[in-house]
Amino acid sequence: MLETLKNSDSKLYDIVIEEYNRQQNSLEMIASESFVPREILELQGSILTNKTMEGFPGRRYHSGYEVIDKMETLAIERAKELFGAQHANIQPHSGSQANQCVYASILNPQNKVMGLRLDQGGHLTHGSKVNFSGKIYNFMSYGLNKETELIDYEELEKLAKEFMPKLIVTGASSYPRFIDYERIGYIAKSVNAYFLVDMAHVAGLVAAGIHPSPVPHADFVTSTTTKTLAGARGGFVLCKEEFAKSLDKAVFPGVQGSCHLHTMAAKAFTFKNAMTNEFKKTMKQVVKNSKHLGKQLSNKGFRLVTGGTDNHLLLVDLRPKGLTGADLDNALSSVGITVNKNMIPYDPQKPMITSGIRIGTTAMTIKGMKEAQMDQIADLINKVADNINNKEMLEQVKIQVQSLAMDN
Ligand SMILES: Cc1ncc(COP(=O)(O)O)c(C=O)c1O
Repeated sequence: MLETLKNSDSKLYDIVIEEYNRQQNSLEMIASESFVPREILELQGSILTNKTMEGFPGRRYHSGYEVIDKMETLAIERAKELFGAQHANIQPHSGSQANQCVYASILNPQNKVMGLRLDQGGHLTHGSKVNFSGKIYNFMSYGLNKETELIDYEELEKLAKEFMPKLIVTGASSYPRFIDYERIGYIAKSVNAYFLVDMAHVAGLVAAGIHPSPVPHADFVTSTTTKTLAGARGGFVLCKEEFAKSLDKAVFPGVQGSCHLHTMAAKAFTFKNAMTNEFKKTMKQVVKNSKHLGKQLSNKGFRLVTGGTDNHLLLVDLRPKGLTGADLDNALSSVGITVNKNMIPYDPQKPMITSGIRIGTTAMTIKGMKEAQMDQIADLINKVADNINNKEMLEQVKIQVQSLAMDN
């Protein structure tokens, strides 16, 4: 691996190898992570990075486009086929830029938009004040019902009727349940608003047919090709044909310049890979593992937000264990289990402390783990939680973590 770099820049080589070893020796359970197929690594490191290209197939600004046009057309066709979409733009460099492109295509600065609260599962680009979205557009947030911890659809509808937004955004970074896209689509229509679903976290599950698809209900669907899609590090947008022209114009020249062709090729492979039976089988196991891990953690005294999960992630309330998210995140990290501290709905703690952690099963399922390994992981997490100041015990757990990670 990286033989040329090893000779020319040993300092950088050593850093990459150190990270490789960290990934091999730990249990990677951050919900947005996955292990990508080797083809993705090859394509993202390929000669395609040499070429500069702007525009779209048949409408280019640089010569030497003939081969690249074939590749972009292939990626677009695959994205459309995989998700049953009328139009796809696969150029956005990230999930955040995919959202920015949709906003740029239909909104003007200060237009009214609604999005899910950041501290209740939404993403920064859904209207946070520290993000471009909250600075440029007039966002109003909707949230979760305090009792059920599910999206409060009635409140959403009431707020939409009062606020009359031009766009309603849904989708989440830390929401363990299905979202009723049809219902929100209906609310959007009733107030004459556009409807965007950001399916970044669940796109792989949607592709595998084990999570409801937002495509029939939304005007626009954005996503990353990472997370559950387990592919290239980038973004894409799907939309109805009537928005195709304005979306493409918003992506280029509106928001971005030249295409990242090495990543575009990796996206084309990501979509093909997600059509295979092997991928569908893996995604089914991702959800089985997540549900199973949740049950085991509940049995050990942790509280799951919403009582369980429908997808690849768990949001765990640590208050019954007398711990904060920062406490457990740090302790788990010290033994090689990587999760992230996360706000729970109506969290009394500050964002840097939190009362919860978010755990995802995508990466370890791709490595081959099943329910039996989830039992072991639940035991290890519980041991750490119950012995958070016991250095000797944490050392023992670290050895168990390494052996479990290396066996898979
Ligand atoms: C729901 C959602 N949308 C968008 C993004 C942004 O993706 P990126 O990190 O590629 O900008 C994320 C990433 O965490 C996300 O969870």
